[in-house]
Amino acid sequence: MVVAAIKKVKVSKVLILGANGMLGHALQKVFPDATFLGHADLDITDEKSVKDLINLWHPSVVINAAAYTDVDGCEDNRDHAFAVNGYGPGYLAAACTQAGAVLVHYSTDYIFDGTRPGYQEDDPPNPINAYGESKLMGEVSVMKNMENYRIIRTSWLFGAHGKNFVDTILSLSRQMETVRVVNDQVGKPTYTVDLARATPGIISRAPGIYHITNDGQCSWYEFAKAFIPNAIPCMTAEFPRRAKRPAYSVLVNTKTPPLRHWREAVFEYIQSKEGT
Ligand SMILES: NC(=O)c1ccc[n+]([C@@H]2O[C@H](COP(=O)([O-])OP(=O)(O)OC[C@H]3O[C@@H](n4cnc5c(N)ncnc54)[C@H](OP(=O)(O)O)[C@@H]3O)[C@@H](O)[C@H]2O)c1
Repeated sequence: MVVAAIKKVKVSKVLILGANGMLGHALQKVFPDATFLGHADLDITDEKSVKDLINLWHPSVVINAAAYTDVDGCEDNRDHAFAVNGYGPGYLAAACTQAGAVLVHYSTDYIFDGTRPGYQEDDPPNPINAYGESKLMGEVSVMKNMENYRIIRTSWLFGAHGKNFVDTILSLSRQMETVRVVNDQVGKPTYTVDLARATPGIISRAPGIYHITNDGQCSWYEFAKAFIPNAIPCMTAEFPRRAKRPAYSVLVNTKTPPLRHWREAVFEYIQSKEGT
């Protein structure tokens, strides 16, 4: 598997993992000269393959967009969630330390419990679901294994090439007279394109944890209402799910200039879909 991956390598020292995911696709556009590896090229839970690949290739920057992101699925597949989201990033960090590479690793607002009026980068995490626990373990594994990391926490991603809220709601809006959307969970929607574009700037900053989202906050209902006419509000309790969600998982960015407002970003995303 490693040999197959190496054969794909081009002349570049940036390695992007999870390149076929939603964020991975946006990163490909921002780093056109990077080497892109999907799940089939490198399984980040395979410690030896991770080590061999990074030792052989010797990248200067590794960007990890690989993760198990099915929040409800993580409840039923805890071992898999911890393998991919918890241990995998640690293997990457150890290999990057050996190679002298910077590791950019993405994490989530779901490491917080959602009981406070916003979370700064150094606020104490307290996940309330298996996905959040596994992602928190990933952060800790990275920090334990290296110094030169950039952990980018983000939230409520939407963009091309992935299952996301905007696509789901647009499709429901066309099929149904009204679409009920929860109004008691608040967060910060983030366009993958904007997050990917912000990533080079984070690489050039000091090691540490960064909160990168589009500007502005809203409930899922307010988010939907911005782009469909037939959304109506409801409560989380009316839609029982396998995993609990934090009620107020607003990431506060104290370190970098804000990105544009999520409203502008979602309109651009929808326009880009209409153009395809
Ligand atoms: N989506 C959100 O709303 C959101 C919110 C906050 C933070 N984040 C974080 O942002 C990052 C990117 O998320 P995303 O939405 O782009 O995720 P995504 O679309 O689900 O993409 C993740 C990619 O990782 C790959 N992958 C899964 N297991 C792997 C493994 N063991 N080894 C290598 N690759 C593996 C997947 O491949 P397969 O599909 O083939 O398994 C997929 O291509 C993740 O760290 C996520 O936790 C996402």
